[in-house]
Amino acid sequence: MQASELYKVPSPVQAFHLDWMKERNLSLTIKRDDLIHDAVSGNKWRKLKFNILQVKHLGKTGILTFGGAYSNHLLATAHACYSFGLESMAIVRGDELNEKSNDILRQCSKWGMQFRFVSREEYHLKDDFEYKNELKDEFRSHYIIPEGGKSYLGIIGCQEIVSELQNEFDEIWVAQGTCTTSIGLALSCNVNQTIQAVPILKGFDVSMEISDIMKFAGFDPESVGQVLSRLNIHAEYHFGGYGKTTEELLNFILKMKEEHDLGLDPIYTGKAFFALQDYYKNSDIENRKIVFLHTGGLIAGSYLK
Ligand SMILES: Cc1ncc(COP(=O)(O)O)c(C=O)c1O
Repeated sequence: MQASELYKVPSPVQAFHLDWMKERNLSLTIKRDDLIHDAVSGNKWRKLKFNILQVKHLGKTGILTFGGAYSNHLLATAHACYSFGLESMAIVRGDELNEKSNDILRQCSKWGMQFRFVSREEYHLKDDFEYKNELKDEFRSHYIIPEGGKSYLGIIGCQEIVSELQNEFDEIWVAQGTCTTSIGLALSCNVNQTIQAVPILKGFDVSMEISDIMKFAGFDPESVGQVLSRLNIHAEYHFGGYGKTTEELLNFILKMKEEHDLGLDPIYTGKAFFALQDYYKNSDIENRKIVFLHTGGLIAGSYLK
């Protein structure tokens, strides 16, 4: 199957109207990457695309990757591998789990993903050079993709998002986990454009993380400086940290669904969209062209039965 038949790319853009924003000439557009595919949704295809091409170029027969028990990345990897006739293997955090522990793992398993459930201590070694070399030796026919698609090729895939945006914009808002997506966006926008990143992890040193990822991926210090100068971090919208939520956030998500038919998830996109509105409501900034990148996260129910 060709990728162009499977994935809706370029993803659509949608104008989003809020009266209070219109009064201040703040235009808001949503880049609907969540509509790319039900299982390989949002930024997942962006991060996997060039990695899958690389697997084919290298003549490997499968992908090995890492994730937690509820990882969108594992689900996307399992489905993409299934579609492209590749094997998939996951190192999963939690040696108390098995492939029937939840709907996501069950579905991954149906798509042929194999698992190794490891202790939290072992999982912590996921980016360790020696640990990865041991895995490479053991799984010689597999290509290793780090947790969450955090890789050079993942970053390059995310750059395509900006090239798909035809209209001028001043800034893109995005939820930030591993930083892969926001790095790709920041590398491909121009000096007058800003990436407004909303980390969903608490107590996370974004600048340090970005420098580390980019250096590890082989980017030069100038590119690191460029990315950091184009990023504006909104660190106060994690709502307690990864997977944590509040009634205020859940009510906001419900309101967006009921009033605007916009589905958001409580882990990533709900927090980022809340941050965007809260930031502008508490400022008197006018005349901006704003893009919100919908990075997915809503797993289609039909996949999880
Ligand atoms: C739905 C969703 N949005 C945003 C992100 C954050 O993207 P990144 O890890 O590239 O910073 C993730 C994690 O991959 C995600 O699953």
